[in-house]
Amino acid sequence: MKHDTIVVIDYGSQYNQLIVRRLRSLGVYAELISYDTPMESFVDCPEVKGFILSGGPHSVYDEDAFLVPAIMMMSGKPILGICYGMQALASYFGGDVRQGSRREYGLQTLHQITSHALFSNIPVNSSVWMSHQDEVKILPKGFVALAKTEYIMAAMANDDQKIYGVQFHPEVKHTEYGMQILHNFVFDICKAKPTWSIDHFIEEQVEFIRARVQNEQVIMGISGGVDSSVAAVLIHRAIPNQLTCVFVDHGLLREGEAEQVMSAFRDKYHIDVIQVNAKEHFLAKLEGVSDPETKRKIIGKEFITIFDAEAKKRGHYAFLGQGTLYTDKIESGTKTAQTIKSHHNVGGLPKDMAFQLIEPLDHLFKDEVRALGVTLGLDEGFINRQPFPGPGLAIRILGAITPLKIDIARESDAILQQEIKRAKLDHEIWQYFTVVPDIHSVGVMGDQRTYDHSVVIRAVTSVDGMTADWAKIPYEVLDTISRRIVNEVSHVNRIVYDITSKPPATIEWE
Ligand code: XMP
Repeated sequence: MKHDTIVVIDYGSQYNQLIVRRLRSLGVYAELISYDTPMESFVDCPEVKGFILSGGPHSVYDEDAFLVPAIMMMSGKPILGICYGMQALASYFGGDVRQGSRREYGLQTLHQITSHALFSNIPVNSSVWMSHQDEVKILPKGFVALAKTEYIMAAMANDDQKIYGVQFHPEVKHTEYGMQILHNFVFDICKAKPTWSIDHFIEEQVEFIRARVQNEQVIMGISGGVDSSVAAVLIHRAIPNQLTCVFVDHGLLREGEAEQVMSAFRDKYHIDVIQVNAKEHFLAKLEGVSDPETKRKIIGKEFITIFDAEAKKRGHYAFLGQGTLYTDKIESGTKTAQTIKSHHNVGGLPKDMAFQLIEPLDHLFKDEVRALGVTLGLDEGFINRQPFPGPGLAIRILGAITPLKIDIARESDAILQQEIKRAKLDHEIWQYFTVVPDIHSVGVMGDQRTYDHSVVIRAVTSVDGMTADWAKIPYEVLDTISRRIVNEVSHVNRIVYDITSKPPATIEWE
C-alpha cells in the first residue's frame, strides 16, 4: 500500500461501502474487507493507520455472530466500531450488550457527556441516525461513556487501548456531524495523511501498468459504456502503442451509437479501435429465441467467440484489459446474492481465457470512475450517459427478435430520447427507453383497420439502479412522444406507459 489506509471490516451493513466512500472523500485511502479475511497483513502493514468495524444485521448473541479478530485488538492501532461494530467491541472486552426494549430507527438527538477528540468541533447536542435493536448496557472495564441519546448510551472510548465505538451511523448523511466524526477519528486519532486523490491515482496506475505489461500487448473490448471507456483511456495513457481496442457491434445498439463510440475514441481520445460488424451473426444466432435468459446467454457466449477470434487473428496478447469496478468485486463476493438476471458486460469476459487481467478501476467506485474520466479528458456528456445493458436492445424486444422489431425499438427509442431532452427532463430521469412487447393489437389508421405492434415507454428515477421509481413525465410530453412514435415508426399503432417501480418490477423488461 502506498497511501495511509483505513481498513473497514464488513459485518454486513447496508452502509458498509458508504463508510469507504466517505473516508476516500476525506482524501484517505480506505479498503473494505470481509470480516473473515486473515488480518495479519493489515495489522503488520505500516500504512494501515486504523480500523473501522461496520454495522451489521447480527446480534452478538447470535450463534453465527461475526467475531472481532483478536489479532486486530492487539495491534495497538485505533479501532472505531459503528453500531454492531461497537456492540462487538463491547462484548469482546466483557461489557454487557442487551436487546433494547425498543428498536431505535431514525433521527435521535445525541448529547455529549464528556468532551473528547472523537467529537471535537461538534456541538454538545446534534442529530444522529440510529438503526439498531441491541445496545451496550454496561461498558467494559477501562471504557468511558462519551455521549448518550434519550434512551441509550451512544458512544464509548478507551483511550489507552485506542478503542472507540458509536451506536449511530456517522457515515449516513442524516447524521449532522458524521463527516466531522470520521474526520476526527481518521486525522486526530489515527494520524492518517490525506494523500488519496484522482491525480495521484492516475500517476500510480500509469506506472503500475507499465511495470506490469513490460513489452507485452494488451487487448480490450469496449462497449461505449463508461467503465470500459475510462479503463481504455487510462491504459492507453500508460502504453499507447501496446493497446488494441475491439468494439463488437452486435446490431442491437441504439440509433447512432456505434458511430458515436467510434468517433469518440478515434477523434477525441486518439485511440484506434477495431470495429467488428457482427450484426448478421448475432441475428442468426438469436433467430426464434424468445426466452430472456437464453437470449442473454447466447449474446454473452457469441460475444466471447467473436472477441476471441479477433484477438487470435491479430497477434499475441498476454493481457486483457477490463473495466471491472470495486463494486463488481465486492458484489460478486457476497454470499447471499441471487441471480435475478445474468448480467452481460463487455467487462465480464471469462477468467479462463488465456490472458492475464489488467483491471485498473477495480478499487474505484462508480462516482470515482466518473471523476477519473473527467480528469482524463473524457466528455462529461459521454461520462454521464444513461446505463445501457450489455445485451442491448435484445432485452427490450420481448419474444423472438426480428429485424422489424429491432427497427421499432431503435426508432421509437430515438424519438423518446429526443423528446425527453427537448423537455429538459434528461437530468431528472435516471434511465428512459422503449420496449417492444410481443403483442399485436387492433387499431385504426385513416379508415383502415390495423393489427400491429405496441411500444412501451419505460422511464425511471433512481440513484444506483438497485431500486427505482417510475418517472412522472408530464402528460403533454407523453402526448408528443406517443403521437410522434405512431406517426413516424412503421407498424406501431399503440403506446403504453409502464408505471411500475422496482421492486416489484425490474427496470428492464427482461
Ligand atoms: P434491472 O433490469 O435489473 O436493471 O432492474 C438495473 C440496471 O442494470 C442495467 N442492466 C444491465 N447492465 N448488463 C449491463 O451492463 C446487463 O446485462 C444488464 N441488465 C440490466 C439496466 O439497464 C439498469 O440500469
